[in-house]
Amino acid sequence: MYIRCTDQELIILKKIADSANELQVPVYLIGGFVRDKIIGRPTKDMDIVCMGDGIALADAVAKKFRPAPTVSFFKNFGTAQIKLSDIEIEFVGARKESYTYDSRKPVVEPGTLEDDQNRRDFTINALAISLNKEDYGTLSDPFKGLEDIENKILRTPLDPTITFSDDPLRMMRAIRFAAQLNYTIEEKTFEAIINNVARIKIVSGERIADELNKILMTKKPSVGFDLLYKSGLLKIIFPQMVDLAGAEYIDGKGHKDNFYHTLQVVDNISEYTDDLWLRWAAVLHDIAKPATKRFEPGHGWTFHGHEVIGGRMVPKIFAQLKLPQNEKMKFVRKMVEMHLRPIGLTKENITDSAIRRLLFDAGDDFDALMTLCNADITSKNKQKVKRYLENFELVRQRCAEVEASDQLRNWQPPVTGEMIMEKFKLPPGRIIGELKNAIREAILDGQIPNNYDAAMEFMLRKAEELGLNVNR
Ligand code: CTP
Repeated sequence: MYIRCTDQELIILKKIADSANELQVPVYLIGGFVRDKIIGRPTKDMDIVCMGDGIALADAVAKKFRPAPTVSFFKNFGTAQIKLSDIEIEFVGARKESYTYDSRKPVVEPGTLEDDQNRRDFTINALAISLNKEDYGTLSDPFKGLEDIENKILRTPLDPTITFSDDPLRMMRAIRFAAQLNYTIEEKTFEAIINNVARIKIVSGERIADELNKILMTKKPSVGFDLLYKSGLLKIIFPQMVDLAGAEYIDGKGHKDNFYHTLQVVDNISEYTDDLWLRWAAVLHDIAKPATKRFEPGHGWTFHGHEVIGGRMVPKIFAQLKLPQNEKMKFVRKMVEMHLRPIGLTKENITDSAIRRLLFDAGDDFDALMTLCNADITSKNKQKVKRYLENFELVRQRCAEVEASDQLRNWQPPVTGEMIMEKFKLPPGRIIGELKNAIREAILDGQIPNNYDAAMEFMLRKAEELGLNVNR
């Protein structure tokens, strides 16, 4: 066998080979599994291509296992799948594909191994290993994919314009593989992406989001985002991010290029977290800078309120990128809205009340927020960086102290809305909300201690002021 497989994988491949031999159909292992084995990346999904009926082969293979796994098949596509513990095996009959201009759905007809390799996206994904008796384990590499793996090059088997025009998602895949594997996209292939970017419009938002998320989960996401930018794809799929690019100068004063600043922040945060959503928060933290940019004579460039406007932009951008409209989105919004809070605390104004408010507002996401703020420091001025880091350390220490005494992260004020309604025999309404807020604010400001008696006493005083009948 050309590649090194686990014992379990070898047993599976042997059963596939035996079944194909019994059915008298030539069969090959192909695609990502072969690629990843050669590169030495972890693999789990196997793609099997046969010169015959893929569904019949899957049925025959399944029967060789005890208990026999279920075969899920898609008759229209002529594909079948079986799942064995954590390995998913996909069977397909070798095919020739032709595409119409406006669809990613090809017209398919049976083909040879060569036809099947021709229709694949990259040379490194077109490598096939024979599972046939006469040449079991032999590699078929018509497009020098092995050489491309050695040279870390992404190239299409056919003229790239055809490959990308057939299925424009492959443009995103090229950039994603380049980012994941640290490969270079061959010049002609990259040019073809530039020339075909408009075709991305026929790809569903969900597939684009999948690829974007994969790019964002790479070790250094800036590589993929920069390629998306330089190819012109980013302008189409996520124009707000492209708006961050460039620096304007007035009276000799410029501001930093917020696109590259953002990429730096994303790379920084990726060293500390694998949380996709915190990485999205880094992508979006300055997204409203173009919308809030002003030049104030004598002072320079300002972006007042970009965190608030940016927070408001998050739901729309998530919808546009087909990202989830759920708690994850709310988390990203909260991070964007709060990303200036810790840096806004300077030595002079780190009061207990400011710390309490930060802890209360950030809640369980406090650590995530501090990770984002740390990543946001990209200044080249060493003194400035030192000052920020020291200040953050101070904020962290003070937060730890206040948290230890007040436990504010998931805190609920000691007098609740229900208690207030009960006390005054009132239904829910504006006045109950006002009293509740007043208690919370008084405790966070340190006006009253965080306990039931003090809060109740304060609430009764406040209620009297509001004209309620308080029977003490
Ligand atoms: N393929 C293709 N064009 C696509 C998607 C897939 O030609 N748009 C081919 C490639 O040969 C690929 C194989 O189908 O290797 C399997 O596709 P898939 O499982 O989506 O990708 P992998 O290459 O296995 O990589 P990953 O799982 O990381 O997406």
